[in-house]
Amino acid sequence: MNTTHRWPLLLAATLWLPATVLQAAEPAPNGIALPAGYRHWQVVASSHRSDNNTLRVILGNEIAVRAARAGQTRPWPHGTVLAKLVWKDRAHAAWPTAQVPGDFVHAEFMSKDDTRFAATGGWGFARWVGMDQQPYGKDAGFVQECFGCHQPVKDNDWVFTRPAVLP
Ligand code: HEC
Repeated sequence: MNTTHRWPLLLAATLWLPATVLQAAEPAPNGIALPAGYRHWQVVASSHRSDNNTLRVILGNEIAVRAARAGQTRPWPHGTVLAKLVWKDRAHAAWPTAQVPGDFVHAEFMSKDDTRFAATGGWGFARWVGMDQQPYGKDAGFVQECFGCHQPVKDNDWVFTRPAVLP
């Protein structure tokens, strides 16, 4: 390849690099970064909300899944991260009574660190909205909304999810 042919390649590389950097989601207003690799985490449970017609899948990082399978979730261990992915319900085209994931709504995370998140039950809350993963919340105070609504499950380490039973 002569030098003239290399220019388009160099140009493509220069344009591509900043573009991929920009694609990473911004951190939440409380400084929590979108957990890397959550798309590969294992399932802890699923849920369906009939008041707002959404399907949810609850995933866990390695520490969370090990604790869930061992039934050691009260409290969940340090380093646990639980993710909740939410989609609007949609009727399956070939079987309308089957509700399947439609439009993506948001991804939420709870990260366990009793020292860093002492003020909110040891959990760091964060949410990224939509397919472009916009961080939720005007400032770090948004966590009061999360923590406030998780009060009914204070005695279950602030977690609603009970790991789904596996044979
Ligand atoms: C209006 C009440 C409400 C608010 C506000 C709320 N949650 Fe929850 N959250 C729930 C309920 C109910 C569940 C369990 C049912 C389900 O699966 O959706 C849940 C489940 C979760 C789970 C799965 C683990 C668990 O506790 O079961 C995560 C992670 C989570 N919420 C994160 C957040 C974050 C982050 C925020 C704030 C940005 C937030 N939640 C705000 C009600 C709320």
